[in-house]
Amino acid sequence: MIRAAELIERTRNGEELSDQEMSGLVLGFTRGEVPDYQMAAWCMAVYFRGLSGRETYALTDAMIRSGDTIDLGAALGRRAVDKHSTGGVGDKTSIAVAPIVAACGVPFGKMSGRGLAHSGGTLDKLESIPGFRVELSIDELVSQVRDVGLAIVGQTADLVPADQKIYALRDVTATVDSNPLIASSIMSKKIATGADAVVLDVKVGDGAHGKRTLDDARILAEQMVDLGRRAGAKVVCLLTDMDQPLGSAVGNALEIREAVDTIAGNGPPDFTELVLDACARLLALSDLGVDVAEGRRLAEDAVADGSATAAYQRWIRAQGGDPDRAALPSAPIVREVRATYAGVVVRLGALAIGHAALELGAGRRTKEDAVDHAVGVVCHAKRGHAVSAGDLLAEVHARDEQSAAAAAIQVQAAYAIGDELPRQHGILLDVVE
Ligand code: URA
Repeated sequence: MIRAAELIERTRNGEELSDQEMSGLVLGFTRGEVPDYQMAAWCMAVYFRGLSGRETYALTDAMIRSGDTIDLGAALGRRAVDKHSTGGVGDKTSIAVAPIVAACGVPFGKMSGRGLAHSGGTLDKLESIPGFRVELSIDELVSQVRDVGLAIVGQTADLVPADQKIYALRDVTATVDSNPLIASSIMSKKIATGADAVVLDVKVGDGAHGKRTLDDARILAEQMVDLGRRAGAKVVCLLTDMDQPLGSAVGNALEIREAVDTIAGNGPPDFTELVLDACARLLALSDLGVDVAEGRRLAEDAVADGSATAAYQRWIRAQGGDPDRAALPSAPIVREVRATYAGVVVRLGALAIGHAALELGAGRRTKEDAVDHAVGVVCHAKRGHAVSAGDLLAEVHARDEQSAAAAAIQVQAAYAIGDELPRQHGILLDVVE
């Protein structure tokens, strides 16, 4: 017998729930015994009062027990590594990290999601590759990671069903932005897929999902690292800049092209730095027995000697896709956005670029929306770039002239050009481990 009203009241009053009470609430909700309105009220109580570290772990553990789990590491007899980002504009990091890490001999298996709102999801990006299949069974996932070294697939309905149900409620009750709810949601999926070592990337800035300050991001990072420690997984959390888009490309096929270029050593500097740093830390957490500096050297070598590109091609073929860059769809209209006066790019709004890409059709507003894989924005000038009047700032890749014109206005407005070089910081703002 679950006394949901009493549990809501206790959380609302800042009192702790026991592990059994947490488990009863979460599993009761998943089975349909606790109605949506009570779970929504409990989420709101958590939003305002938070949860202790023990309660957050009990919530995570109950969510994991709500469905199937995979022990990827045990199935492979290796330490399996995974990476996750809280999401932002132009974030195609996993697509470049996976083949580099695999080329270094470390198995990489990841379940990923689709995008909503102003940023696309990894699955949407991968589906711009002709023929690429994201729906693999758990057995196919395990054998592909064993045989090919890597796989990125869609999350199955049986994995952490409690999270899927609770997230759907949070999404419509203004309770997504709660650190313990985000931490348990992300980490339950990582632990349920048997990741022994995880690099997390918490985005900070106006293009990040869940607007957060650097201090707030540190709190979320500490909670996720703590959940990993309690579950016996090694977790490192990067806090990275999302005040401007990551790299240059925003939009599904455009981002795949940029990931392919980066794996071959020709990527934009900020994106290349994040990819190599994430790879270095994943390799240091793996069973290779290397430190971060050695991991970085291995990752750089895999890019330079072409083995990362070879791993990418093997991976895409294994999931039915055509790895040829030329096979990716392209938009019929490309409109240039040029600087109207000389100066330095002092700001390039990530959210504004994300919205321009969304309006072009690169993202979805509702889960049912179809995504146009070809369209998007390429930002050639980033923060700190000096430009002369008439220099190319960005390109809009559009389906028709009308949407190109509207997006070009939005992209122009996303750029602020001034006299002063803004204070520069790198892509990496902090690391929590
Ligand atoms: N990503 C998730 O998977 N869950 C959240 O709650 C927020 C971001």
